[in-house]
Amino acid sequence: MNFEIGTLDRITDTVLRYSPKAAKKAAPVEARYDLNLADAFAWMEARAENSIHAIVTDPPYGLKEFTDVEQTKMRKGKGGVWRIPPSFDGAKRMSVPRFTVLDDADIAALRFFFEKFAKQALRVLVPGGHVMIATNPLLSQHVYIPMMEAGFEKRGEIIRLVQTLRGGDRPKNAHVEFKDVSVMPRSAWEPWGLFRKPCEGRVQDNLRKWGTGGLRRVSGHEPFVDVIRSSPTRVEERRIAPHPSLKPQALMRQLVAASLPLGKGVVLDPFMGGGSTIAAARAVGYESIGIEQDPGYFKVAAAAIPTLARLGLNGATSGNGSAGGNGAASKRPKANSHRKSG
Ligand SMILES: C[S@@+](CC[C@H](N)C(=O)[O-])C[C@H]1O[C@@H](n2cnc3c(N)ncnc32)[C@H](O)[C@@H]1O
Repeated sequence: MNFEIGTLDRITDTVLRYSPKAAKKAAPVEARYDLNLADAFAWMEARAENSIHAIVTDPPYGLKEFTDVEQTKMRKGKGGVWRIPPSFDGAKRMSVPRFTVLDDADIAALRFFFEKFAKQALRVLVPGGHVMIATNPLLSQHVYIPMMEAGFEKRGEIIRLVQTLRGGDRPKNAHVEFKDVSVMPRSAWEPWGLFRKPCEGRVQDNLRKWGTGGLRRVSGHEPFVDVIRSSPTRVEERRIAPHPSLKPQALMRQLVAASLPLGKGVVLDPFMGGGSTIAAARAVGYESIGIEQDPGYFKVAAAAIPTLARLGLNGATSGNGSAGGNGAASKRPKANSHRKSG
């Protein structure tokens, strides 16, 4: 199947929303997901205002990294801004973007990108709607400032504790001379900016009118917590959805579950990549919309989402789209070894 922007541009699917309480009383509520092969900005501009309840996304950083030229270099495994991390466990490693090569012009482009994103996000979200946006410690300011300038309230950051392969190196070509020096810390966390479109009135008023304004609790006794122990994406998930930036279901289900305080509404991922947000939404029973501009990744996501959504957090698959769904929201994954691959 070939996907091109403007031809086959939409896939929809309907899944059953799992709710233990509702399941006892009535037929399960249906939750849908729509996938659109489109430019996120064009799609958001065409979308009605106040029609999305949460945005959970991991946008392209460096911008360069997802251009046709860089994608071709990355797919060939030669040159460009992507680098292949050293193999230390015998497993084939995926390319990772090399953010530090950004120059002033790249940074200006990044700021412009997030100004456009923030403006459209503010328009399409309902009052009180949250944005959870993945970033990294080197570049987060270029996301956060445009978001706040557009009118979002910064509500904090969610810290994903994960050992990456970024940083920690000795000075290039002088590592023997400066053997006790790291140029920058080995990164052990990933920040997710947390923003909210201002509420209409009090939070309780906004919750009644729009169903948004807060975050869904993990349980009656447990609020959502802003530090999440995580692991790199499992090999199994990468096999199902081969995208170089695929986020793990164990993380995404917690984030997505928290993004709709009443468990109702539509979650948007305008940069869906391999579809981890949409799969997580499907797993927790929320309606969602995914946008991806790259036909290859769109195809990967379209094929992967149902399987990823069925995947239990212990690796087992189940027969419907709610595997590990609400359970993922109430159980935090154990802190696995940070040294695992994936
Ligand atoms: C960092 S990746 C997202 C990965 C995703 N979170 C996952 O788990 O697979 C960003 C994605 O945004 C896509 N993208 C970049 N610019 C875009 C745009 N203007 N509109 C839609 N998608 C875009 C890229 O092709 C890439 O797949």
